[in-house]
Amino acid sequence: MYRTHNCGELRIENVDETVVLSGWVQKIRNLGGMTFVDIRDRYGISQLVFDENVNHNFCTKARELGREYVIKTQGKVIERSNKNPKMPTGDIEILVDELTVLNKSEVPPFTIEDNTDGGDELRMKYRYLDLRRNTVKKNIILRHKMAHEVRNYLDENDFIEIETPVLIKSTPEGARDFVVPSRMNKGEFYALPQSPQVFKQLLMISGFDRYYQIVKCFRDEDLRADRQPEFTQIDCEMSFAEQEDILNMFEGLAKHLFKAIKGIDISYKLLRMTWADAMKYYGSDKPDLRFDMKFVDLSEIVKGKNFKIFDEAEYVGGICAESCAAYSRKQLDALTEFVRRPQIGAKGLVYVKYNEDGSFKSSVDKFYSQDDLKKWADVLSAKPGDLLLILSGKRNKTLTALGQLRLEMGKKLNLIDNNTFVPLWVVDFPLFEWNDDEKRYTAMHHPFTLPKKEDIDLLETNPGEVRANAYDLVINGIEIGGGSIRIHDNEVQQKMFKLLGFSREDAENQFGFLMNAFKYGAPPHGGVAFGFDRWTALFAGIDSIRDVIAFPKNNAGRDVMIDSPSTISDEQLKELGLKVTKSES
Ligand code: AMO
Repeated sequence: MYRTHNCGELRIENVDETVVLSGWVQKIRNLGGMTFVDIRDRYGISQLVFDENVNHNFCTKARELGREYVIKTQGKVIERSNKNPKMPTGDIEILVDELTVLNKSEVPPFTIEDNTDGGDELRMKYRYLDLRRNTVKKNIILRHKMAHEVRNYLDENDFIEIETPVLIKSTPEGARDFVVPSRMNKGEFYALPQSPQVFKQLLMISGFDRYYQIVKCFRDEDLRADRQPEFTQIDCEMSFAEQEDILNMFEGLAKHLFKAIKGIDISYKLLRMTWADAMKYYGSDKPDLRFDMKFVDLSEIVKGKNFKIFDEAEYVGGICAESCAAYSRKQLDALTEFVRRPQIGAKGLVYVKYNEDGSFKSSVDKFYSQDDLKKWADVLSAKPGDLLLILSGKRNKTLTALGQLRLEMGKKLNLIDNNTFVPLWVVDFPLFEWNDDEKRYTAMHHPFTLPKKEDIDLLETNPGEVRANAYDLVINGIEIGGGSIRIHDNEVQQKMFKLLGFSREDAENQFGFLMNAFKYGAPPHGGVAFGFDRWTALFAGIDSIRDVIAFPKNNAGRDVMIDSPSTISDEQLKELGLKVTKSES
């Protein structure tokens, strides 16, 4: 028998029991006639004692152990004289009378400790060792608990889990597909699903009514802290459901997870904010509402004083940073540099200091009187001691830049509390997005999204203004999930493809099967998909989704542990009918 208990469960009540433990050697300490060995497994750490006076040979054997050796021990649980209140097993230790080395270990390339000395790349290369560390292991266990609770909730609500294929034809989610060559159909390729979107819609046509799947999705896009080339969705779809039904159902899921995982009761109905308001007040379709600092549109009141930049701007907007009037020249310059970064793209920043004595000092004093500046301060609800920060330019670009500045100020002023969660639904997304490179509209969500009934007339005349029955779940500034009510009418769907610039043949070629299926009684339906990695990372309190994935890819999309992607043999290429040409760069 390898064990009677795990390494994390023995307590004072177990004193005098003879137990068998197996696990890894965490630490060895020799103190005179005693040798202490910490033994570790998934559940915790226990202290083993080898007493020179009781068994000399054992002590010698224990001293020969190395870090990460796998051992089996038998011994008696005794009360510790020197208790360790930081360890759950800290009241006891095991006086060993049998020790077997089950496997030796080389010295690990980094220490298996919470604060390891291993760098990122090294830990990724030896990810199986990294996963032994508490800090990483606990995220993987949290992920499991989340999946379990998702299944509990959805099962209770009659959702059934159905697997959909991984070798498919490309789905129109908008990123690049990963493709897989077919040996049996030379010259032809499967695509890995960016999501099971069309399959879940087909399952609704099949009558399954409520579907879900915790499913791998694949997108060949540039990576960031919240993106992986293969990631996991909680993918869901419901028939005979309106937007309201779907929001209520998945608000329920969110509340269930908050309660079961974080112990947080959310008794209120989640805030719903239109996309237009989210952009107008926070400059983002995923506003972080843990702090306020709402934008105020100053476009009207700043005009007519010969300040050309404001006079010519499509939009002028400001935020009020409380108690920042004492900002130094250097601090203001740093903020100007911040908004000028290429990824933010503002040309400059106008500031107004509302001094404690009620006077104003601004970067535009030449153009505006103290009275003018007082008016701005009033509309921004500023008090003496506050600092107004103002950006101007093209409306959408300026709103987004101001959104970034707001987040930066939120961080600087410590307004963002990581233990607070503010979930909300962002609703009424635009149906289309203008693609300036391709000079055409593309679907903001995907081409199966149903336009709002009241906006249907705008489809032909002003597509940019059409709103969709589409929604995102946003928590603390992170897009946790998104979905929509789908088109279930063949004619509307055909019209949509046409508006998106698909020729009849293209649409037929790519989605003929779906169009066909729509002819056989498609129920009204809609759904949503949540980023499972993102949600777990949020609950784990970490920024990168890599830390909640057992075997993630690095920023270059590589798995450095198994060294993938890699070349394949000439025979394999031949069998697949492929030839690799050297890249020119
Ligand atoms: P969408 O493309 O919005 O919708 O994806 C749903 C959610 O998946 C997460 N996500 C990602 N997570 C990690 N890495 C990525 N590369 C990545 N891309 C997306 C996000 C996102 O909100 N089929 C639709 C859903 C629907 O309409 O029902 C879809 O895939 O959290």
